[in-house]
Amino acid sequence: MIKQKVRVKTFKIDDITVTGQSDQTVLEVAREHNIYIPTLCYLEGLSCVGSCRMCLVEIKGCRELAPACTSKIKEGMEVVTTSPDIQAHRNMILSMLFSERTHTCSVCVVNGNCELQDKTVELGLEHSLVPYLEQRFEIDASHKNFVHDPNRCILCTRCVRVCDEIEGAHALDLVDRGINTRIIHDMDEPWADSQSCTSCGKCVYVCPTGALYEKDISTEEKLKKTDIILNLIKSRKKDD
Ligand code: SF4
Ligand code: SF4
Ligand code: FES
Repeated sequence: MIKQKVRVKTFKIDDITVTGQSDQTVLEVAREHNIYIPTLCYLEGLSCVGSCRMCLVEIKGCRELAPACTSKIKEGMEVVTTSPDIQAHRNMILSMLFSERTHTCSVCVVNGNCELQDKTVELGLEHSLVPYLEQRFEIDASHKNFVHDPNRCILCTRCVRVCDEIEGAHALDLVDRGINTRIIHDMDEPWADSQSCTSCGKCVYVCPTGALYEKDISTEEKLKKTDIILNLIKSRKKDD
């Protein structure tokens, strides 16, 4: 297979001239230049799936908003990261996430340590723009160390990707469709019965919400450890 040459591209983000490599995304280049774009499903070190749409940006000449985390950069492109239209889309996306599951922050184990909550505060969304669907899912507390509460899940698939791409276990997957989609262990077994789960806890550390959490520790201690991925990648490279 012929390897594509990586080239330097110059373009604009919010009228700031930036450069990046042709294999980079708009989000990666924006972060390198300290230009903030909100994200939820993206986590540095994991593959990008572009599922949450929190990172939507305007690209001049494109009729629709595009996710910055999966849009490759192009020479001369002009990207806008904030506008009333983008803000309205982000607020609607957040509202739909809140509507699909049950998020009562005041009684949530990760209240104060939650990326979904942070985004809501950051974007100034004070109430959901769509009605709540009042879905109820069974909580799986069978594992000796961890709990899975699908009622807090935003289906970002960080847990699925970290388990597959970093731990190499692929103990997690998605089942069902639409608002019934759930994260499952193996063939939809209780977590404690999963043959492929190594109990490493990586899925719990990268989950942005209270959908996966550790048992027997206080709310203050339920800090997520999303930097674990980059640290592991770095230390594995050193060992090679
Ligand atoms: S997971 Fe986050 S947004 Fe959902 S209830 Fe808990 S703190 Fe609130
Ligand atoms: S369990 Fe957590 S990490 Fe996994 S998809 Fe749901 S919100 Fe994302
Ligand atoms: S962060 Fe880009 S779509 Fe989720």
